Amino acid sequence: MYRPVHISDSIYYVGVNDRRTNLFESQLPLPYGVSYNSYIIMDEKIALIDTVDVCFFESYSKKIEAAIGDRKIDYLIVNHMEPDHSGSIHLIREHYPDIRIIGNAKTIEMINGYFEITNNLQEVKDGDQLELGKHRLSFTLTPMVHWPETMMTYDITEKALFSGDAFGCFGALDGGVIDQTMNLDKFWSEMRRYYANIVGKYGVPVQNALAKLQGVEMNYICSTHGPVWKEQIEKVVNLYSRWSRYEAEAGVVIAYGTMYGNTGQMAEAIAEGVVAGGVKNVILHDVSKTDASFILSDIFNYTGLVLGSPTYMNELFPGVESLLRKIEVRQVKNRVFASFGSFTWAGVAIKRIAPVIEGLKWDVVGSVEEKQALKQEKYNECFSLGMEIANKIKG
Ligand code: FEO
Repeated sequence: MYRPVHISDSIYYVGVNDRRTNLFESQLPLPYGVSYNSYIIMDEKIALIDTVDVCFFESYSKKIEAAIGDRKIDYLIVNHMEPDHSGSIHLIREHYPDIRIIGNAKTIEMINGYFEITNNLQEVKDGDQLELGKHRLSFTLTPMVHWPETMMTYDITEKALFSGDAFGCFGALDGGVIDQTMNLDKFWSEMRRYYANIVGKYGVPVQNALAKLQGVEMNYICSTHGPVWKEQIEKVVNLYSRWSRYEAEAGVVIAYGTMYGNTGQMAEAIAEGVVAGGVKNVILHDVSKTDASFILSDIFNYTGLVLGSPTYMNELFPGVESLLRKIEVRQVKNRVFASFGSFTWAGVAIKRIAPVIEGLKWDVVGSVEEKQALKQEKYNECFSLGMEIANKIKG
């Protein structure tokens, strides 16, 4: 029923696809599912790298058996403790009671906290190595990509980097595992959405990790989510470098809430102005229709953001407030910004947005606020604001 899935002669893929979960971390939609990747290195000693969500243990254990037969696993290397990867640690230990679990000091503390496991643990420090026979592994601590205990394992012999969440993406694997055997179309946007929402807060730690990887030869990047990168290594490393520096393409995201359509009409007028100003990449998002994870992904991709909100109960419209908070938490940098909104009796929305954007030190072009329905004068102001943003982005 299961067959061994080779990455190389002695590295096997034993991950699973999750096509059932609707919301990753109970908040992020998974339209294409997600994979939880785990790997085996076969040698005189056998190492298992990370596990999978515990709900998938049954098929996971069969995949392991297909790869290693009745041999025993000697080491479980834990690169990351988030439960989508650590969830099966205790069941793996039940199957392989002599297994030695490898992690850094923070990992070991978490293994104790999550599973009350205190024996057969081996602590490694940055740069430590482990011999499996022909394969020699080296451990690199990469804290906050995505949790404090995160580390990467590099197989010096095969030049394979087991990178944890880094370079991973949403999207289950549709039959293939290595990038060169697959149609990658869905993965590029899902990789950016993954980055923006999961890792996006940690730009500096990602830069630090990339600096540690500088000059390391890689035949494979084996992440915990998405395809194994072989042909596309340069591209995915460059994407991480770009996103972690908050670099973006010329373009404008216009995200807004609208209850009766008035703020929405302002969004349309601003978009017309942006296009008239010569910027082609314009994306409008109604925050009540598009999940914030997709909007954030576009905000990571484009240099301009225009945020619009009606005044609601003397505050921001809730969907806009939530999006603004997500942007603030991720400390997105270097964006051109404008705001707009409408109200019926008291205009508050713009005032609520301003201090957050000030804190991010973005380049603020201006704002437009209308009382009740959109009228010609404010339509013109919206259009002009769009043109100004376009000029700023082009300039
Ligand atoms: Fe895929 Fe941070 O776990």
